[in-house]
Amino acid sequence: MPIVAPSLLSADFLNLQKDCDMLNASEADWFHLDVMDGSFVPNISFGFPVIERVCKATEKICDVHLMILEPGRYAEAFQKAGADILTVHYEACTHLHRNLQQIRALGMKAGVALNPHTPVQLLGDILHDIDLVCIMSVNPGFGGQQFIPHTIDKIRALKHMIHDRGLSTLIEIDGGVTLDNAAAILHAGADVLVAGNTVFKSPDPVQSIAALKRL
Ligand code: DX5
Ligand code: ZN
Repeated sequence: MPIVAPSLLSADFLNLQKDCDMLNASEADWFHLDVMDGSFVPNISFGFPVIERVCKATEKICDVHLMILEPGRYAEAFQKAGADILTVHYEACTHLHRNLQQIRALGMKAGVALNPHTPVQLLGDILHDIDLVCIMSVNPGFGGQQFIPHTIDKIRALKHMIHDRGLSTLIEIDGGVTLDNAAAILHAGADVLVAGNTVFKSPDPVQSIAALKRL
């Protein structure tokens, strides 16, 4: 069964308690929390006060996706806010190895996200230091965008790299995941499906999560 990680970016920010309760009662495995700084991506989302409250409101895994420059400056603060997994962008880290070591030293799982133009092959020398690779299947910054089809080839290539090295790194797909394309994404080798609009804009979010789990 895939790991399903609904993205709070598409939740109702005036009723976060309601959406957290819904996710807690659902088969969702993780809460995916998107942090945007208005510099690395052309949008600003939410920060520590929201993350702290949301992580307290659940016993599910808090999967924090940082779309920010200089993530190392804030790693400890995200750990304190309740992050279990902290994902930084390859394109935002000059010293990626150091960033990953810092995240693991703080007791969190370390993730690396790749923009659509960044080849998975660039991770060859760092893969053994990564717990999760988040392949962006849209350009980061906004929910509700169209899935970029070439992502499927990237998933296949990364799966081979992980297998060849005997690793158990998880592959997460983020952006434009729907009930129509999720089966192909999983078939290519993905382990984690992030879903924003597919869950929160659905008439029955709990049912949509259950449907993603059963693909
Ligand atoms: C985009 C975010 C995604 C977003 C996905 O920058 O990283 O997590 O919430 O939303 P959907 O599933 O609607 O494309
Ligand atoms: Zn995300």
